[in-house]
Amino acid sequence: MPIDLRSDTVTRPTAGMREAMATAEVGDDVYGEDPTVNALESEVAALFGHEAALFCPTGSMANQIALQVLVPPGGELLCDADAHVVTYEMGAAAAYGGITSRTWPAVGADIDPDGVAGMIRPDGYWAVPTRAIAVEQTHNRGGGGVIPLDTLRELRRVADAAQSALHCDGARIWHAHVADGVPLATYGALFDTLSVCLSKGLGAPVGSLVVGTADKIEQARLVRKRMGGGMRQAGILAAAGRYALTHHVDRLAEDHAKAARLAEAITPYGVLAAPVRTNLVPLDLTKAPMDAHALAAAARAEGVLISVLGPRTARLVTHLDVTNAAIDRAATILPRILRA
Ligand SMILES: Cc1ncc(COP(=O)(O)O)c(C=O)c1O
Repeated sequence: MPIDLRSDTVTRPTAGMREAMATAEVGDDVYGEDPTVNALESEVAALFGHEAALFCPTGSMANQIALQVLVPPGGELLCDADAHVVTYEMGAAAAYGGITSRTWPAVGADIDPDGVAGMIRPDGYWAVPTRAIAVEQTHNRGGGGVIPLDTLRELRRVADAAQSALHCDGARIWHAHVADGVPLATYGALFDTLSVCLSKGLGAPVGSLVVGTADKIEQARLVRKRMGGGMRQAGILAAAGRYALTHHVDRLAEDHAKAARLAEAITPYGVLAAPVRTNLVPLDLTKAPMDAHALAAAARAEGVLISVLGPRTARLVTHLDVTNAAIDRAATILPRILRA
C-alpha cells in the first residue's frame, strides 16, 4: 500500500463509522424527514453557537450556497488570491450567483485587516459594492496556517463597519480549534456563515454543512435545491458525520504531530515553505535540485504519494489513514530523495 500524503480527503470510513452508517435511521431529507440529517444539522449548529445548519454534499457546494445567500447578483466578494472559493470552485460564484470576486494577494493565514478594509467598495450605483468577505480557516494553499483570533475579530469589525457579511470557509476549522484551543462557538460568533467539512480531516466519506441564522439557512435550503444538492435518504451519510464529530475531532492532534514529524525530517533540505501548524506540510522547491513533478515522481516510485500544487510547490497532508510507522518511512524516503 502506498503512503498517501496527497490529501486528507483520501481516508476511508472506519469500521465503527461504517457500522453507524449501516444502522442509521433515514427518511426523505428533501421533505425534512431524515432524522439523522436533522440531528447532525442541530448538533453542528449548536457546536458553532448558531441557530441552524444545512447538510450539503461537498465543501464547494456549501461555500457557494453561503456566498449566494450573502451576496446578491452583481455584488462583490473579497477574499485572498489563493482562497479555495476562487481557486478550485470553477468560477461558481460568477457562474451561478452573478458574484464578482476581487482578491487580496495570497498571504495564507497572515491577513492584514487594514488592507482588507482599504479594499471595500461602498454601496452606490457607480461601483460594484462589497457584500461579503471570505476567509479560510485553516488555509489550504497557505500550508494549513491558522488565522489568529485577534485577526478574525479585526475582520469582523471591518465587515461591520462596511455593512458587509463575513464568511468562513471552515473546511478544516476543526484543525484550527485543536491547534489553537479556540472553542468552535468562538469562531462561530464571528461569522455570518461558515461552511464546515466532514470529509477532510474528520474522515467521513461525504458531507459539509453551511452554518448560520435560521433565516439564512432557510434561504440556503432553497439555493441547495436549485443547485441540485437536495438529497433523499442522506442519513446514511450524516451518520458518518455524526460519528466523526464524536470520534475524530480530538485525535486531529495526532495528525498535527505527524505533520510536524515530516516537517522536521525535511527542514534540513530548505524546502519547508512555512512553519507547520496543523496537518499540512507546504513545500517550496525553488532552491531544491528538482521541481515538484520530479519530486512527486521519485516519491511515487518509492511508495509515497504527494500533491503537486505548482511547478515548484508541493504539499504533504497527514490524516486518519496514515500510521506513525508510515510517517517514519516517509520521513526517511523524502529526505533521501531531496539529498540526491
Ligand atoms: C479549504 C477548502 N475549502 C473547500 C474545499 C471543498 O471541499 P469539497 O472537495 O468537498 O468540495 C476544500 C477541499 O479540499 C478545501 O480544502
